[in-house]
Amino acid sequence: MEFTLEHTDPQSRARAGEIRTAHGSIATPIFMPVGTAASVKGVHQRELREEIDPDIILGNTYHLYLRPKTNILEEAGGLHKFMGWDRNILTDSGGYQVYSLSANRKIKEEGVKFKSHIDGSTHVFTPENVMEIQRTIGADIIMAFDECTPYPCDYNYAKRSMHMTHRWLDRCIAHLDKLPYKYDYPQTLFPIVQGSTYKDLRQQSAEYIASSGAEGNAIGGLSVGEPAEEMYAMTEVVCDILPEDKPRYLMGVGTPINILENIALGIDMFDCVMPTRNARNGMLFTAHGTINIKNKKWEADYSPIDEMGFTFVDKEYSKAYLRHLFAANEYLGKQIATIHNLGFYLWLVREARRRILAGDFREWKDKMVKQMDKRL
Ligand code: GUN
Repeated sequence: MEFTLEHTDPQSRARAGEIRTAHGSIATPIFMPVGTAASVKGVHQRELREEIDPDIILGNTYHLYLRPKTNILEEAGGLHKFMGWDRNILTDSGGYQVYSLSANRKIKEEGVKFKSHIDGSTHVFTPENVMEIQRTIGADIIMAFDECTPYPCDYNYAKRSMHMTHRWLDRCIAHLDKLPYKYDYPQTLFPIVQGSTYKDLRQQSAEYIASSGAEGNAIGGLSVGEPAEEMYAMTEVVCDILPEDKPRYLMGVGTPINILENIALGIDMFDCVMPTRNARNGMLFTAHGTINIKNKKWEADYSPIDEMGFTFVDKEYSKAYLRHLFAANEYLGKQIATIHNLGFYLWLVREARRRILAGDFREWKDKMVKQMDKRL
């Protein structure tokens, strides 16, 4: 993997860059649509490619390991082939899903024992087997196995957990060194900074992660319920320490406003279920605020879904039609809303990149943050 830093905004820490892998080039800042179980829920790969056009999507080790299971992915020739997606993929390590989804998890130095949310069966994730699973899934970028601490988190717990995440990183790196690539392209490991909302822990963790010399670095343990100001404070502390010449990925973030504020602090990569999950509940993101399309207010509003029109659905369908689809519980409603939201998120990061390169990012960001902070 290679990364070129093209431009840094003089009025903020925002950056424009390019990541290159065997599956193509990724213009940054980027938002990665979440395709948890080998599918961006409700969106065909063709629509994803042609309408939303992201350079990279995200998959989840936890889900893919439980279903369809790694042997199926291996026989298929890896996740790209299995799902018919020839652009970049990043897989999360399970270091978050195992805490948020599984039952009866027990965390020890060796790893995490958990029960599947699908059938209750017992499994163990260790730094070593998570590297093996991610080799088999075959994403271009793979994540270290970590513990994502909850919010709020007691200082001593956060400190112990952070040190364990660091030891787990060493085990991930040592084991990965022994595992050849499974397919005909390389993979890159990103380590993850933890440390909850404690500045001194975040600094220590960022220094440890930076010293691992990885080709890209991630920040975890944020957007877990803390106030946005605390998230921004932690991002700032960590970005001060992580190397300038490597991409920085803020995991699980966030709202359109969170994304712009974190781009301004030096983040290059984002993922979040919000545009897809909220779409399925009828919530639309726009440049002028959010819309609950189920609201009676839209019943006879025949204007297009979004006048700015980032994808075909915005121009072809009216708010009244989309509201009707939700009221009638038609599948198509969720699909249209998902395409709209992903189209908007991808427009947002592309526009941010354009503004960074043009030199007016800061002004535009401040205007957008005010403008988007509304319910329509
Ligand atoms: N996704 C969101 N936050 C996290 C985190 O802290 N760790 C991992 N592995 N994934 C995440």
